[in-house]
Amino acid sequence: MSAPTLSPRSAEVVRSTLPVVEDSIDDITAIFYRTLLDQHPALVGTMFSADRLADGTQQRALASAIASCAALLVADEDADPRELLAPVARRHRAVEVQPAQYDVVHEHLFAAIVEVLGDAVTPEVAAAWDEVYRAMAGALIELERS
Ligand code: HEM
Repeated sequence: MSAPTLSPRSAEVVRSTLPVVEDSIDDITAIFYRTLLDQHPALVGTMFSADRLADGTQQRALASAIASCAALLVADEDADPRELLAPVARRHRAVEVQPAQYDVVHEHLFAAIVEVLGDAVTPEVAAAWDEVYRAMAGALIELERS
């Protein structure tokens, strides 16, 4: 499979909104895990470690993965984020993350982005970051399958 990339227009939008997303990423991931786990409480203990959630390790790991992957995708159109995501895929495989769960994560992550950034999330901004998420999820699902 070829390396995931962004359309030129999305890359431009992601590049210009990356600083504001990076500034708010800790708030976004905090809200994301709160709402995800409120609605899917069975994930705590079975998949997510309560200790890693309580001390913020899990939230920081997701925040850093999103920010570094987005930065890589916009820095160089030949960059391959799969290298960066390989250790994440290994962890996901160990806890048996399923492809369908990427839609659940998508829903809560984007709701958290809108909650934190409000009107800054124009349809164009939402579509561009959607492409980032799809690129990451697609690469992870592919790696987790292999
Ligand atoms: C694009 C989407 C996703 C990204 C960027 C992402 C990112 C990460 C990162 C960076 C880690 C930490 C890896 C490590 O510590 O080595 C992680 C672990 C984990 N992720 Fe994801 N993830 C995504 C989707 C999902 C989905 C859909 C699920 C399913 C509910 C999930 C469940 C988990 C679990 C259970 C862990 C391990 C927690 C532990 O080791 O205690 N992730 N993920």
